[in-house]
Amino acid sequence: MFLRCSVSECGAELELHDRALACPRCGDLLEVVVDKIPLDPPALKRQWRERRLSCDPRDVSGVWRFRDFLPEYPAGKVITLGEGNTPLVRGQRTAKFAGLRTLWFKHLGWNPTSSFKDLGMTVGMTEANFVGTKAVGCASTGNTSASLAAFAARAGLIAKVYLPAGQISMNKLAQALDYGAELIEIPGSFDDALNALLESVNPDLYFLNSINPFRLEGQKTAMFELLEQLAWNVPDYLIVPGGNLGNSSAFGKAFEELMKFGIVEKVPKMIVVQAAGANPFARMWREGSRKLVPVDKPETIATAIRIGNPRSWKKSLRGVEFTGGFVMDVTDEEIGEAKAMIGRDGIGCEPASATTLAGLRKLHSEGTIDPDATVVAILTGHVLKDTDFIIKSRKKSEAKEAAEVHVK
Ligand code: F0G
Repeated sequence: MFLRCSVSECGAELELHDRALACPRCGDLLEVVVDKIPLDPPALKRQWRERRLSCDPRDVSGVWRFRDFLPEYPAGKVITLGEGNTPLVRGQRTAKFAGLRTLWFKHLGWNPTSSFKDLGMTVGMTEANFVGTKAVGCASTGNTSASLAAFAARAGLIAKVYLPAGQISMNKLAQALDYGAELIEIPGSFDDALNALLESVNPDLYFLNSINPFRLEGQKTAMFELLEQLAWNVPDYLIVPGGNLGNSSAFGKAFEELMKFGIVEKVPKMIVVQAAGANPFARMWREGSRKLVPVDKPETIATAIRIGNPRSWKKSLRGVEFTGGFVMDVTDEEIGEAKAMIGRDGIGCEPASATTLAGLRKLHSEGTIDPDATVVAILTGHVLKDTDFIIKSRKKSEAKEAAEVHVK
């Protein structure tokens, strides 16, 4: 395995453990290249199943179980909290709400720190530790900081998290504090926090946002686990929230590799959903352009994806195009309604995750999706990640009901 520039026209190559944040030739993002696999597809699938019976911490992890597609580390060097192994839950009321017969939720919020970030962080932190860093840092809308803080604590590393001041959920802030991270609050948005971190990057601080290609390697394994859970029967659509666009980039990479090595013969169409107030990628897609124009002041109730200048958009676009998918957006009102419905299905999630169901309902009302299609929606964060949102929504709907009674 080695690192390569993610822009194919450049293609500069670097050694796998090089600490470069960007391509030294063109400045774009780097990616890990999986150039060979150890076994043929049936033998690999058997091995992944058999590892479930083992007590090796790498086999217990739903990420490292698929390590044949990950950078290699000595067994004792893997920083793991038993991440992954998240269930596929069948949508009931939610399926009706979206006009679908078969809707599955892959709930990545049921991870150690309650978001999908743990899948990437186990690999990112293992790499950081392996290259001998003492401190790690990230900018975050909350979930990355919680995850980074927990895995840094496991690795015995100092964690510094840059947060947009007053803009992240208290639950996520509390997690980062509990795991012992140092908080640096930056006025402005996530994009400002990320710029502040990038300016302060130095050889002593290892950078762990999803620009880091090792993070995406871990996140891609969610697709391996998902398809294994479906007995390798590939669904028609995969729908995923889009913020900084690391996750959809990771999923696109997973599909490219699964096809390249013959593990599957087709892939789901990937739909990326953004919030309407933080939608530069959806806007670019609608306009048929290939140049992302950042949103200056991103605004949405889904604070996790309140991002105006997503760094991984080119990688995500490659994934969307590779799978024959598309990009869309939904309003805050649609997100709120869908979130309540996911709760009523006994599943629950944080607001950003509900963009998926909101998107499906919108596609149904437009007649874009066949009701018989098989759809998997990715839920990215746990219901307890943003409790303030739930309490405020309840108060708002009670006030609305009271006003209606009064009018009657
Ligand atoms: N859903 C949740 C719950 C998130 O926390 C994020 C991103 C996303 C979706 C979007 O994923 O950025 O890979 O497109 N949260 C980051 C953070 C930005 O700092 O926690 P993406």
